[in-house]
Amino acid sequence: MSDIENVLHENRFFPPPREFQSQSRLSSEAAYQRMYKASIDDPETFFGRVANELPWMKPFTRVLDWSQAPFAQWFVGGQLNASAICLDQHITTQGSAKRAIIWEGEPGDTRTLTYAELHLEVCRFANVLKGRGIKRGDRVVIYMPMIPEAAMAMLACARIGAAHSVVFGGFSAQSLKDRIQDGACTAVITADGSFRRGAVLPLKATVDEALTGLTGVKNVIVVQRAKNKVAWTQGRDHWYHDLLSRASSECEPEAMESEDLLFLLYTSGSTGRPKGIVHTTGGYMVGAYMSAQYVFDLKEDDVFWCTADVGWITGHSYIVYGPLANGATIVMYEGAPNTPHQGRMWEIVDKHKVTIFYTAPTAIRTFMRWGEEIPAKYKLNTLRLLGTVGESINPEAWMWYHRNIGRERCPIVDTWWQTETGSIMITPLPGITATQPGSATRPFFGVDVAVVDEAGRELPANHGGYLVIRKPWPSMLRGIWGDKERYVENYWGKFKTMYFAGDGARRDDKGNFWILGRVDDVINVSGHRLSTMEVESSLVSHAKVAEAAVVGRPDELTGQAICAFVTCVGDVKPDDALRAELMEHVAREIGKLARPSEIRFSEALPKTRSGKIMRRLLRDIAAGTETVGDTSTLEDFSVLARLRADEE
Ligand code: PRX
Repeated sequence: MSDIENVLHENRFFPPPREFQSQSRLSSEAAYQRMYKASIDDPETFFGRVANELPWMKPFTRVLDWSQAPFAQWFVGGQLNASAICLDQHITTQGSAKRAIIWEGEPGDTRTLTYAELHLEVCRFANVLKGRGIKRGDRVVIYMPMIPEAAMAMLACARIGAAHSVVFGGFSAQSLKDRIQDGACTAVITADGSFRRGAVLPLKATVDEALTGLTGVKNVIVVQRAKNKVAWTQGRDHWYHDLLSRASSECEPEAMESEDLLFLLYTSGSTGRPKGIVHTTGGYMVGAYMSAQYVFDLKEDDVFWCTADVGWITGHSYIVYGPLANGATIVMYEGAPNTPHQGRMWEIVDKHKVTIFYTAPTAIRTFMRWGEEIPAKYKLNTLRLLGTVGESINPEAWMWYHRNIGRERCPIVDTWWQTETGSIMITPLPGITATQPGSATRPFFGVDVAVVDEAGRELPANHGGYLVIRKPWPSMLRGIWGDKERYVENYWGKFKTMYFAGDGARRDDKGNFWILGRVDDVINVSGHRLSTMEVESSLVSHAKVAEAAVVGRPDELTGQAICAFVTCVGDVKPDDALRAELMEHVAREIGKLARPSEIRFSEALPKTRSGKIMRRLLRDIAAGTETVGDTSTLEDFSVLARLRADEE
């Protein structure tokens, strides 16, 4: 492969605001450099020290065993319990009266649980599970709306040593069935329904459909939320509130081995079956705890709102395990961002005095589309830190976030990581790092990342290539459930001694990383390899564009030609003049080479259920071929149909 060209030039710098810096956990570049160096030179001492900030039931005897690489063992010999780390350790101090969860339902109902209350509920939930015969080593599917019981269910499983496999509530019955079967799960925790855009999403009905023909699931525990009518299978189905009324609130946490399974979380490969990513207890908890503390600069009185669903890794690490291990207060919201109005998110920020807000670029682009007059109606003065995750953030979306939500006062942490990495890998540290729109900036502690060429040689500054991680880290995946070979092949196959999971990147001469998107998405125009993300960012920098997805389609002359799918802001009516204007805009901004040969306007783009644009499907549409790949993660099938209809 020749290098990926680098065409996006971003010269804006944002040093950490002085006010933020003066009170942040780490506030000098020298402190970061010192800690980073220590973490890379001697990871065992570094991580041994961090791990010992957590309460272990039995101390570990060895920090890392990498002799079976790429299968790591961290904190060997140690025993701990993730729910005890998130709850029990905060109960003995004055932390017990502190709020753990502030929850808001879509209809506007709210609920607050202190650490003492959450502890009690989790103990009772754990006894409910035990009472149904669920035990250490079992695997339990959680298919829940964003209600406190979702977090409680995760922690209750962890408490008794059962692994959870959370399946996002938007997945279909078939996807749920596949995941239940793959994990050989014996119980499902769900709810009758959930409120979404003013309607009821019937979760229990989907579970019933998923379970037809399956015999392994002995228990379905149903939390009553929406009070919708549900079908009932006697002997298998149980109302949570019935079981709870008989459950004791005393439940000692199981002493788990550091390498015992904590959870499975499925992620879609671009081809083939979804992969059950394996995370174990000790290393994952250390990674989630440490990253939440430093990246979000967590303080005693922070109110932290991560808008992800618990069905994604972001929800696991930064709604549940990371913040709670730090004794923080979190916000959970059940519903849609535009119900009952487009200012709902900002209303919640003001109402609950949110100080840290962590969301995804897809959400930010949606807010941009709705217009800056919406957040302008809210105070947003409690916010002190913003974050993004999930995709590269287009620099103009970053600027919009900075101006309209952060009011030019809050640092933004653009955090790069993956389901597989378990916790944040590349990120600014908010009191230290000068940020640049579009860059995730620098490696976090213990993360040895590099940009390499096809042969695995490190590339000089400003050359785009493969993003690899060269050393094991505590929260790394331990494998793919039931498929050792696929793990080795998928992540360690290309470079053998270095972890590679599909992303391209470049490092600039200041040492900042710029993620260029999936290498599978790279387009080759006349022998130049272009990152789709950079062309998209150029389109999004045009005032009339809200979102753009760029793909290559076969072209006899140039190998591939650039085809862009564009969604306009607000009430802009797309026409040929705008099409020509956008083509020129890209040519002017980043060069003629990147000028799209074709621009198609569209009301919406096909996205995964977690909001990532599915360029793979757009490639088929651009080339005029039928989609053959896996579409089970597509959020809205009608988008594909509409895009195809536009062609005709
Ligand atoms: O391509 C990268 C992109 O999301 C992928 C991981 O997706 P997932 O496992 O669903 O986890 C998302 C939440 C951690 C990565 O391989 N990605 C994630 N964060 C960023 C990003 N791309 C660019 N910048 C980011 N900050």
